[in-house]
Formats: sequence, C-alpha cells, structure tokens
Amino acid sequence: MESILLNNQVCIPVIGYGVWQVEENIEECVLAALEYGYRHIDTAAAYHNEEGVGRAVRQSGIPREEIFITTKLWNDDMRANRTKDAFYESLEKLGLDYVDLYLVHWPVKDKYIDCYLEMEQLYNEGLIKAIGVSNCLKHHLEPLLERCSIVPAVNQIQIHPRWTQTEYIQYLKQKNIAVEAYSPLGHGDLLDHEVIKGVAERYNKSTAQVIIRWHLQRGVIVLPKSKTKERIKENISVFDFELSVEDMALVSRLNDETCYGGHPDTFDF
Ligand code: A2P
Repeated sequence: MESILLNNQVCIPVIGYGVWQVEENIEECVLAALEYGYRHIDTAAAYHNEEGVGRAVRQSGIPREEIFITTKLWNDDMRANRTKDAFYESLEKLGLDYVDLYLVHWPVKDKYIDCYLEMEQLYNEGLIKAIGVSNCLKHHLEPLLERCSIVPAVNQIQIHPRWTQTEYIQYLKQKNIAVEAYSPLGHGDLLDHEVIKGVAERYNKSTAQVIIRWHLQRGVIVLPKSKTKERIKENISVFDFELSVEDMALVSRLNDETCYGGHPDTFDF
C-alpha cells in the first residue's frame, strides 16, 4: 500500500477502508480488508462501530503501529462541549491507547473551532498522531486557520466525479492540508455512468477501480466503502494501471457539483 506524509510527517496510506453504514458484519469486513492489504480504517463515533473496528484490529495480529486508524468527534458532543470525554470514549470503544487521526466531523456552528483547539491539547499529550477536520468548506476553514496553533493535517470532504472540488483541492494543498475523499464513488451512483463505463472498458477494470484511480492520480486520499468482501478487495486492486491524461479529463468533466447527502452549508445533524 502506498503512503504519503502528512504535514507533521506522519505517514498515511492513500486508500482507507471507509466503514460508514458497515454495522452488523463490521468485524468480518475489517478483518477481510486487513487481509487484502488495507492498513487504514476510517471510522467515526457516529458510525457506531468503533468496538467492532477495534476487535478486528486486535484479532488481525497485525502490529498496531502498522495500521492507521481515524475516528471523528460527533456533532452532539461538540454542542455539549464534550470534546475530551467523547475522545476518551472513542479510545475506549476502539480499545486503543492512541488514534492516528482525529477529525472534527462537521463544522458545527459556533462550536467546531473551540473543539478543534481542545483536540490540539490531546494531540500535544500524544494521544492522537494527527488532527484535522471534515466537511469544511473554505469559509469554514479560514476562520479556524486564524485561530489554531496546529494546521489541520487533513480535511476529509465529499469528492467524486460529479463534485470534483478541483480549485479547493489546490487551495488545501497550498496550505499543506492533505485531502481525503469520502463518498468517492458518489454513493455508488456513478458506477453505472456511461462515460466511466467507457473508460473502464479501455483498461479492462471495473468502474469503481477507475474512479478510485482517478482520485489517487489527483493526489487525494480515497476512502471507498463497501460491505461486500469481493468489492473491498476490488477497491484496493488499483496499483497496476494508470489513467491517461485524456481519461482523467473525461472523468473530471462529469462535475456538476452534485452533493450526495448532507451539504456542509445546510446540514443539521
Ligand atoms: P456495498 O456496500 O453493498 O458493497 P461511496 O464509497 O461512494 O459512498 O459508495 C459506496 C456504495 O458503493 C455502497 O453502496 C457500496 O455497496 C458500493 N460499492 C463500493 N464498492 C463497490 C464496487 N467495487 N462495485 C460496486 N459497488 C460498490
């Protein structure tokens, strides 16, 4: 698995197994993912599966330091000013003594910046290897950058061929903030798209593999989600081909700023 360095020199594998909505068979799926070669798991308190993730990591027998684990601070905990308590609860559910990356899940109005500043303290205590944000658009990030002492290592946002966020990705890279893509397959909605099917045929790959490759070639960390073992395996088998410049452009041209699920400006979770 290829990795890149975050702005604090922590190493992060470029594909993570996203476990949103993976509930009943979480342990089995994470174990399978680890067996197929994933070394990066992306969970959140709100996914209600941190225990299963932790159990699978322990059962795998893979040394802890070889697996990168992300979890996230949920909105209700931000509203209740419970940043530190919520973090310790996640740590306990995961059964770990540190997490690799802790993210503010959504930019909860009047709360997320203060919560991030508390996460800085946990980072300074060595309980988190890197801290960052999720779902922050530029106008959420700028005020945070004015107040923080530690520039977020990561911003995890919705990116896929119908919401390419090209300019914003450039901005984040200039700020030395790594970009992670959630819903990278457009919630699965783009897997039957004619243009992507055409590209996939040229490379003899699946449409999911083409989209994952498109993310990687744009320098984005990609978090595909699946409950199906064959697909979990398929989604990591993307290191033996490369999309041409023309095909990258063809996929990028699908952008129409479609947001699947909550939009950072209108969410009310
Ligand atoms: P499933 O979990 O049943 O495998 P996204 O990551 O963009 O949110 O997309 C997730 C959706 O895409 C899920 O519905 C998932 O279904 C589906 N999916 C993930 N990987 C693949 C794949 N390789 N082939 C087909 N569908 C996939």
